[in-house]
Amino acid sequence: EFLQQHDIGQECKELLPTLPLEKGWVATHVYQYQGFWFYPKIIQGVLSCQKHFQALDTDIVLITIPKSGTTWLKALMFALINRNKYPNIHSDHPLLTKNPHDLVPFWEIGLYSDKDLLPDLQTISPPRLFSTHLSYESLPKSVKDSSCKVVYLCRDPKDTFVSLWHFLNKIRPKNRETFPLEEVFESFCRGVTPFGPFWEHVLGYWKKSLESPKKVMFLKYEEIKMRPNFYLKEIAKFLECPFSKEEESKGVDDDILNLCSFENLSNLEVNKIGTVSFKVENKTFFRRGQVGDWKNILTTDMIEHINTITELFFSKHGLKF
Ligand code: A3P
Repeated sequence: EFLQQHDIGQECKELLPTLPLEKGWVATHVYQYQGFWFYPKIIQGVLSCQKHFQALDTDIVLITIPKSGTTWLKALMFALINRNKYPNIHSDHPLLTKNPHDLVPFWEIGLYSDKDLLPDLQTISPPRLFSTHLSYESLPKSVKDSSCKVVYLCRDPKDTFVSLWHFLNKIRPKNRETFPLEEVFESFCRGVTPFGPFWEHVLGYWKKSLESPKKVMFLKYEEIKMRPNFYLKEIAKFLECPFSKEEESKGVDDDILNLCSFENLSNLEVNKIGTVSFKVENKTFFRRGQVGDWKNILTTDMIEHINTITELFFSKHGLKF
């Protein structure tokens, strides 16, 4: 439902016919804007945030391509930067009653989706925490010009794809058949996937993180899974709010990790029954939360094919999965 096209503005209506288009899965078509693929309704939000969003130096932007672990990172970063405001993770923490997507809003799927209404972001006390799936090139100009921080998370393309395929099937219109794995895979590998191509998206942020390590932090889902405590502390240092010795001895870091764990979040009542503001059921964002589920789903040919693309794009840049 959140992808319906009926309420797009004039600028977007005029832009769409000028853009390359391909068959979409959840919506009829996807359009290519600034090198990346979007559902039409989302282009409305992209244009609006590019035009109107004004970054503050204290802002923090959390960026992913869908299905990389956005929900987890939103939870972790929300809990991290608000740890003094909400010290009690067992009783009155907002993550216990709200889905992470409702605490850390997306620009293009949320804050800037309404063609007639711009969000009032002046009243949010700093540091403001936002999220987007946009490529580096397409970020609002003020994000690049200011000294706000960008935290980028990606995931092995094989798991990203498998997670995406399940997700698209869950949110597909009720009258549509299941989307065949082979066909969605073929689109993904050609780069025709929401906010993709995957490889260009990741590479853009990887290069930026090497160029400007104080501006862009580059994270991998698999690495955080393996060493959650280490990476939580790295994120805290990057955001210039490191854990004090006292906090460490009290276990504030572990509390945050427990609060945000897959087991804890996915079992909360709110995440079993609720719906996020952009009309997707909360439970859709929690499936297995593991590394390597692709082994159960992809064929040997598929694995070889996707690995070849990954090698081709990433190996010369020193990036591996
Ligand atoms: P799987 O489909 O492989 O289970 P996104 O949040 O970007 O939409 O990504 C969704 C993926 O992250 C899903 O992967 C989901 O299960 C997983 N996920 C959600 N919450 C998580 C958490 N707290 N810890 C680890 N993984 C999580």
